[in-house]
Amino acid sequence: MSKSYLFPPGFLWGSATAAYQIEGSPLADGAGPSIWQRFAHTPGRMLNNDNGDVACDHYHRWRDDIALMKQLGLQSYRFSIAWARVLPDGVGRVNPKGLDFYERLVDTLLENDIQPMATLYHWDLPAALDDRGGWLNRDSADWFAEYARTMFERLDGRVRRWATLNEPWVVTDGGYLHGVLAPGHRSQYETPIASHNLMRAHGAAVKVYREVGKHEVGLVVNIEPKYPASDSAEDLAATRRADAYMNRQYLDPAFFGRYPEELREVFGDAWQDWPQEDMELIRQPIDFVGLNYYTRNVSRHDESNWPQKVSAVRQPMHTYTETGWEVFPQGLVDTLMWLKDRYGNPQVFITENGSAFYDPPQAENGRIRDPLRISYLRQHLRAVHEAIEAGCNIGGYYVWSLLDNLEWSLGYSKRFGIVHVDYDTQTRTPKDSARYYSRIVASHGADLAHDDE
Ligand code: BGC
Repeated sequence: MSKSYLFPPGFLWGSATAAYQIEGSPLADGAGPSIWQRFAHTPGRMLNNDNGDVACDHYHRWRDDIALMKQLGLQSYRFSIAWARVLPDGVGRVNPKGLDFYERLVDTLLENDIQPMATLYHWDLPAALDDRGGWLNRDSADWFAEYARTMFERLDGRVRRWATLNEPWVVTDGGYLHGVLAPGHRSQYETPIASHNLMRAHGAAVKVYREVGKHEVGLVVNIEPKYPASDSAEDLAATRRADAYMNRQYLDPAFFGRYPEELREVFGDAWQDWPQEDMELIRQPIDFVGLNYYTRNVSRHDESNWPQKVSAVRQPMHTYTETGWEVFPQGLVDTLMWLKDRYGNPQVFITENGSAFYDPPQAENGRIRDPLRISYLRQHLRAVHEAIEAGCNIGGYYVWSLLDNLEWSLGYSKRFGIVHVDYDTQTRTPKDSARYYSRIVASHGADLAHDDE
């Protein structure tokens, strides 16, 4: 008899997006500008000078997009709220039209039996707050708590699962260390401060949630498991540094109230001893970890790679996606087991997993064939199943992404969607991977047993 891939009852199947990547109309109806609005409109920052002015025009087409999810049989939708739509200046004055947009979205999802999961911060800090120092300002924790309270008070109950931050590592590594994401700074000295304030903001929002919310709140991190390129002492130390910097930097303080030792080595004189009260604020019990998993990293010591002194070794004969990421489903099993063993088997949602591949530019007889994405999905969903069998507490899976969208500073050049978007006409065409995913959802995983599409 062939192996059964049936998932546990209640396991949720969904898809994920983020506000700036899909909504368009970033300044509509009284919204304030965000750091992404500014970054994307600064010459030279974005590939092909792309920006999020129109994106997938989801701000106007959200009803159709929900209909599409319904048609695919999806049970949950992870989206993010654009902070500056709701609070144009980041704090203070609330913009009712911004709130209404998300309220309508949530109500319509519920009418269609699709459970919303809302992310409060998917990288689009209100520009007015960046003018006050953004994440470098210690007040940012209070700003975020005020915004979180506004959203919880308005929507908790209808939204029953909230994520505070999406990928604080990417926010700081891309936005404050390497300057490739908004706000585009390049400073080893700012990076740990921004990271620490993001985590204080996370803690402050969770505290507010315990006062006013009744359901679940968690943190979304991207974990890339690190494997040593050799067993030399240097490569082993490099692997530990890389793991501390990317993976443990956020979960260790959230769960244990302390940072990994190796960060001192990574940041050198830029690292600080943080006040104990901050660590207590950060360490708030959470209801789930959101895991974004895309790839792994084979690490070797490399003096020239600032500031971690680690670089990745390419694996010959392995498949790489169009963003240059190795396809490595075993890494998802290893990561889920690591979360279980290190952090006491928390409830985990795979809040993102997916791939960009070269898709045919246009539909042929209504079809977009994307076999590599199907294979990526199948392998990673089998990995999730394996982790569940090994005792991991996994509540659901969200494919990244529902739609092709703005891949941040890479603009529209990378397509992660299971649904193709024609940016000239805004036509949506489910790719073969969407049909495949829909079949897996309908069979609650059972159809993963087959190798065909
Ligand atoms: C982010 C998404 C992004 C995806 C693919 C994650 O880092 O949360 O916004 O599009 O990965 O790069």
